[in-house]
Amino acid sequence: MSSFFRGRRLRRSETVRRMVRETVVAVDDLIYPMFVVPGHGVCAPIGAMPGQNRYSVDTLVEECRRVAGLGIPSVLLFGIPETKDPAGTEASAPTGIVQQAVSALKAALPDLLVITDVCLCEYTSHGHCGILTPSGEVHNDLTLQRLAETAVSHARAGADMVAPSDMMDGRVAAIRMALDDADLGAVPIMSYAAKYASAFYGPFREAAESAPQHGDRRGYQMDPPNRREALREIEADLDEGADIIMVKPALPYLDIIADARANVTAPIAAYNVSGEYSMLKAAVLNGWLEERRAVLEVLTSIKRAGADLILTYHAAEAAGWLGG
Ligand code: PBG
Repeated sequence: MSSFFRGRRLRRSETVRRMVRETVVAVDDLIYPMFVVPGHGVCAPIGAMPGQNRYSVDTLVEECRRVAGLGIPSVLLFGIPETKDPAGTEASAPTGIVQQAVSALKAALPDLLVITDVCLCEYTSHGHCGILTPSGEVHNDLTLQRLAETAVSHARAGADMVAPSDMMDGRVAAIRMALDDADLGAVPIMSYAAKYASAFYGPFREAAESAPQHGDRRGYQMDPPNRREALREIEADLDEGADIIMVKPALPYLDIIADARANVTAPIAAYNVSGEYSMLKAAVLNGWLEERRAVLEVLTSIKRAGADLILTYHAAEAAGWLGG
């Protein structure tokens, strides 16, 4: 009996639990996704994402000052432009909304690492992530050019990192070459490598006004039942020069994060997406879940599966609980 394993021995006090804890989420692991809109003094609540807002550049800077003060190292920016057209022209405009936000943030908070989402869906009138062929399909190679121009314009505005989320084939290589040609070779790429066609992006599409006007994204985002294919996508992006690879969404895809961890040495990011946030918030607002414990358990699970970095709308609250 004396040599019998008794797991409870090391669970008896918080002190001993702290000592043998295998996974610890740190504020340094968190990236806070934020939405920026034209205007001044705007802080507009996003209905489907209680607690999240769309900010104009001035209020974004103030909110980021608070976020940085909590110890969060980085934000990911999404822009909602004044006007949309079939080519998503505003995405790469030097005076575009993200470009303005980046330069204001870098001037005010030089130590905050500003990542920009590189995609066309918020900027195209049809809401797809690229340029359409006459038959309404997304044209892969015409889109690459627009993505590369967009990434370069973000980096010229001062973005510290670019994050392509479009799922076109070859975009990492196209962006890497364009950045290098523009003398922006030091700007890293975090690629949304294994991005699934997920129902959990629903609330984001309200926030970013980016729902496709016809069809869906299943022709370019990954099919949820596929597991091996994720490694294929990740390898391709690393071969093309991705510095960090991402799995998205996070919670329903923890197996994919674990596979990635077992197979690649590069840093892995996981995106705890809008629908994951909203379902937890809805349960909390109904009094069905205890928020602090539920959020920290979710973030810990994502890290335990193998993620180094977690993109999450819970970042500000979690940072307060974790201590900066
Ligand atoms: C743009 C993009 C999306 C998300 C991040 N970048 C939406 C989509 O692909 O439809 C989703 C983020 C979230 O749900 O929080 N391509």
